[in-house]
Amino acid sequence: MRFGYFDDTHREYVITTPKTPYPWINYLGSENFFALVSHRAGGYCFYRDARLRRLMRYRYNNVPTDVGGRYFYINDGGEVWNPSFAPTNTALDAFECRHGLGYTRITGERKGVRASLLMLVPTGHTAEIHQLTLKNESSDVKNLKVFSLIEWCLWNAYDDMTNYQRNFSTGEVEIEKNGATLYHKTEYRERRDHYAFYNVNADVAGYDTDRESFLGLYNEWGEPQVPVKGQSSNSVASGWQPIASHGLDVKLAPGETKTFVFTLGYVEVPRDQKWEKPGIINKKPAHDLIAKFSKPEQVDAAMKALADHWSKLLSNYSIESGDEKLNRTVNIWNPYQCMVTFNMSRSASYFETGIGRGMGFRDSNQDLLGFVHLVPERARERIIDIASTQFPDGSAYHQYQPLTKRGNNDVGSGFNDDPLWLIFGVAAYIRETGDYAILDEQVPYDNDPKTATSLFEHLKRSFNHVLNNLGPHGLPLIGRADWNDCLNLNCFSETPDESFQTTGNRVGRTAESVFIAGMFVGVAPDYAYLAEKKGFADEAKKARAESAKMTDVVLKDGWDGEWFLRAYDFFGKKVGSKENKEAQIFIEPQGFCVMAGIGVEGGQAKKALDAVKERLDTKYGIVLNNPPYTEYHVELGEISSYPPGYKENAGIFCHNNPWVIIAETVIGRGDRAFEYWKKIAPAYLEEQSEVHRLEPYVYAQMIAGKDAVRHGEAKNSWLTGTAAWNFVAIAHYLLGVRPDFDGLRVHPCLGSEVGKFTVTRKCRGAEYRIHVKNSGQSGSAPKLTVDGKPIAGDLVPYAKAGSTVIVECEV
Ligand code: BGC
Ligand code: NOJ
Repeated sequence: MRFGYFDDTHREYVITTPKTPYPWINYLGSENFFALVSHRAGGYCFYRDARLRRLMRYRYNNVPTDVGGRYFYINDGGEVWNPSFAPTNTALDAFECRHGLGYTRITGERKGVRASLLMLVPTGHTAEIHQLTLKNESSDVKNLKVFSLIEWCLWNAYDDMTNYQRNFSTGEVEIEKNGATLYHKTEYRERRDHYAFYNVNADVAGYDTDRESFLGLYNEWGEPQVPVKGQSSNSVASGWQPIASHGLDVKLAPGETKTFVFTLGYVEVPRDQKWEKPGIINKKPAHDLIAKFSKPEQVDAAMKALADHWSKLLSNYSIESGDEKLNRTVNIWNPYQCMVTFNMSRSASYFETGIGRGMGFRDSNQDLLGFVHLVPERARERIIDIASTQFPDGSAYHQYQPLTKRGNNDVGSGFNDDPLWLIFGVAAYIRETGDYAILDEQVPYDNDPKTATSLFEHLKRSFNHVLNNLGPHGLPLIGRADWNDCLNLNCFSETPDESFQTTGNRVGRTAESVFIAGMFVGVAPDYAYLAEKKGFADEAKKARAESAKMTDVVLKDGWDGEWFLRAYDFFGKKVGSKENKEAQIFIEPQGFCVMAGIGVEGGQAKKALDAVKERLDTKYGIVLNNPPYTEYHVELGEISSYPPGYKENAGIFCHNNPWVIIAETVIGRGDRAFEYWKKIAPAYLEEQSEVHRLEPYVYAQMIAGKDAVRHGEAKNSWLTGTAAWNFVAIAHYLLGVRPDFDGLRVHPCLGSEVGKFTVTRKCRGAEYRIHVKNSGQSGSAPKLTVDGKPIAGDLVPYAKAGSTVIVECEV
């Protein structure tokens, strides 16, 4: 069952009912100022950091769900309704929500009044614009009373939820132009050099800044006393809960339309210019921002700029094929989600509060893989930021703060896969750009400028961190965990509330990870290549030798006979082996070891992938492990804390499905790869939205596995490495167009379903038009001509910037 449809021409998903199976959201903003907005106008916005610079309050895990947002109440002859349906839930004659690239437009209609609310964050600005267009479609004159409403948050969103004894007394506002501009200046009197405001470009009939006066102490958002009465109370907040609400009297003749522009802005003021006069804030920066968006033509221009911005970004990789679901995924929604994950890491979504998680070291490097072709310069900056938080021994904080860019200990350190992800990220960046100079950048450790070395030295310490931390079999020690945060082999927690990720009750150097071994072998050729480029031939030689050695170790002690083992635990016992009662096989080492090429020649790779098919594949995707753990295992940690079929315990982790998909292409089985991909790619799941429940335009982290009560139900959409890895899988390996160090590799492998297609790829300033005739024959080598001339192999040499290259590919 569907709850909307794709409008590919406008690059939108159109939701046709307010009653979707879960709030279906969008993200606004692409650099510093961001907003989450649901199809019912729920959500919030923030400057850079959802905890420390949040403008709007949001209520998590609330009843009903999705409370808090930008609400417009319309009182039409005593009846109050919202174009977004929420929060009054008054029945509408028509409803539509269009989520587009960086904007959302919600339209509601009731009794001849059509109200359309456009929300966007203009590129380069720190404001959310709300343009409300009201049209009288009836034959009567309408006298509407319209009320805007947003609720301020005290800006430290954690404090906002916990420290009422203080923050019920700190709230302060200022009111300007009879209430057309409402300022929130809580804590500005002391250490904050920033404030927020909400403006409307019209004369107002009244305003409110105090929540209780607007709502009534015991009223719900759906029955607020001011809109019900039809009159603002001109309240001035003092402590308690400051809000901003404009009251507008809108008279509309039959057929008449009126448009109002609201600016919800954030400004920073230099410390020595904070005050206009004692107690009165300097409003100049707010006035400047308001002046930029106070006319509908300015909003139109901002929308046009946004559309151009996205057209430019998306033109770096696009496909035309006969499969519209494939086209819209690759051309629009997958790269869009990659941008969002790059910006947010795992911080603010409808499954992450924005309070607990910063930018992940591992996460951000992976996000970069799907993002780097969109804005390589930002990827470069991100690499430097991430590497600057690394420790001198190559290990890493697991996350860092987006505002300060400093590593923090909230999720600790000692995840032994983390260092290697930096090499993946840097290699992807250099493949895209050819910017080897980044390796010479001076980058500090733990943000201490005195320690700076070249970025290449960081990679060296990353690589060698693995070699310095090998276990009894010669496999890498796992530390706190590897990619699977929930495989905590040194944790041994018996105490509720102890973090599985930061607790290490047993200290030992025995627990080893076959997954990290696969990563190590996978990244070694890139590392060796870069070392050679920098003139470190010995280091390159050593890397290759160590990688060969690790491959042997994996094939000897990391092989279980039919598939790759997952790990050795603290006691040296196998994890992910047929010797185990539960979780005999895990997905991660099968994907990563085969991607790294381990066992391709010897036949182990094929065996492992056949075992995945047989034991892990389901109707809705590949589960993480099988059989699931049914009991808590103190020696394994969080993985066994989840009920069977959910999350890391045998859920369908959409993040590592693409590893198997790519691995299938490594052994040439394109049909199977494409079939796997379609099981988790959102556009293909639209018809099953009542089961899947989450947005059909973005990937979710997890779909409940075959052992779960609710098999097929997804959770945790948007912020997941799934976005980047699936982009890599589909764009780089199935469609087969990927930048390499010395040329653009063209090697499609996607089975026979999609016969002909064209990929247009811009890279290093040139444009490549790649026309593929695809027979879908398993494992066949492509035949290429470049500008009419046949070439050997699958590597199209990079062309001069500015040129257009025509590639014909038969495969
Ligand atoms: C989740 C993981 C997450 C980890 C670290 C676990 O509860 O299941 O997905 O990576 O916490 O925050
Ligand atoms: C979510 C985390 O963000 C990611 O880093 C991790 O790899 C997966 N969970 C698997 O545990």
